[in-house]
Amino acid sequence: MSQRETWATRAGFILAAVGSAVGLGNIWQFPFKTSEYGGATFLVVYLVAALGIGLPAMLAEFVIGRKSNLNAISAFERLGHRNWKWVGVLGVGIGFWILSYYSVVGGWVLRYIGGSLTGAYFADPASYFGSVSAGLDALVLHAVFMLLVVAIVAGGVEDGIERATKLMVPSIVVILGALAVWVFTLSGASPGYVYFLSPDLSQLSLSVSFDPFPSFSGPLTNVIPFAVSQAFFSLSLGMGAMITYASYVGEDQSLFGDSITVVVLNSAVGVLAGLVVIPLLFVQGVEPGSGGAGALFISLATAFAELPAGRLVGAVFFAVVLIAALSSAISLLEVVTSYVVDTYGARRPRVAAVLGGLIFLLGTPSAWDTAWLTWFDTLAYQLLLPLSVLGVLLFAGWVYGRPAVAELLSGSSFGQGVGVTWLWLARTVVILAVLLTLWLGIQTLFVDGAIVPPL
Ligand code: PFF
Repeated sequence: MSQRETWATRAGFILAAVGSAVGLGNIWQFPFKTSEYGGATFLVVYLVAALGIGLPAMLAEFVIGRKSNLNAISAFERLGHRNWKWVGVLGVGIGFWILSYYSVVGGWVLRYIGGSLTGAYFADPASYFGSVSAGLDALVLHAVFMLLVVAIVAGGVEDGIERATKLMVPSIVVILGALAVWVFTLSGASPGYVYFLSPDLSQLSLSVSFDPFPSFSGPLTNVIPFAVSQAFFSLSLGMGAMITYASYVGEDQSLFGDSITVVVLNSAVGVLAGLVVIPLLFVQGVEPGSGGAGALFISLATAFAELPAGRLVGAVFFAVVLIAALSSAISLLEVVTSYVVDTYGARRPRVAAVLGGLIFLLGTPSAWDTAWLTWFDTLAYQLLLPLSVLGVLLFAGWVYGRPAVAELLSGSSFGQGVGVTWLWLARTVVILAVLLTLWLGIQTLFVDGAIVPPL
């Protein structure tokens, strides 16, 4: 096998990991899921999950990746546990699954760059969204988005991915920050802040009864599966992405420090996006929960239609969202590409192109009809993501165990105590929390009948 690539600099890895984390999950999904599933309650559960479950799980993925120095599937074999390979396979499969509809939304973003420049959505943002979000238009832009992703991944880790992400994070923070300040000055925004930022404590409850299986009720039953999975989705966990990226990292780098940076920056961008989109929905008189997948696009389009220089601001905003979406999407394609390149020694550009084509095909139903997009997304949240993160935690905590602590501490100044605490948290509380999430997700999937595809 040829010499494996590595990140050129320490910042290269952090930026790429942040680039993978920060994406449509923060800017598009987070605000709309928050407004759909309980506002501030959702925010609280999300933040607790990001720190309490996401961070330990990310460390688990980093350890698996760096120690094995291999792609997300072969990693388990290299660590001596062939029969845990299914965790990697599941992750890579989920990457495929998610990228298929992620790319459709990426296509919408492309469309909105053009739409901002020409002012096409200014007259009627809602019906514009309706007409471009599904059907032939959406399909063509889905293809264009996938082509861009393939082109970057074909370029390789250092030249393609690292370079593409360096500019993105600062620009996202600056633009979202400026928009948040502007939204703050609008009249009618204040109920939005209340809805988003002040949790109603009575909503933070969950009760359980056993008869004989555990059955949960209370306001959190709906919130937990979405908010916890939102943390996974947003942190790019359970998809092999962080395993793959960490496999290019040297032993002298502190995985702890890096993961904290990623979690904090990622949550900050989500909250910033919420501070823009949610008050805007209130300004426009949209009921929380009724925005749906179009919430970001419709609410912002309405805002840009009213802003001075709205065309320019809109185009720049969607261009930045595009970069965020691309830097996340490339990490998903990289996961699968790196597996095929490592295993079969095939040429990277060709592999990226073939896989990109397959993912495009899987995404065609979502491009054709948003009901399919919602179905793919719901299954990912309620079932696939928690299942896959559970697998990672079980493996790192119980199967790999002690050597994971040594790997975690390599390159960091933390003592053994911190590593062992991580191990025991991962083995117990964190796994139980993921089990609860999975159980609740399955409960809602079957009770609501959301498991049935929209045929
Ligand atoms: N974390 C990305 C986002 O929030 O948009 C999406 C994503 C990227 C999910 C990479 C999974 C992944 F492996």
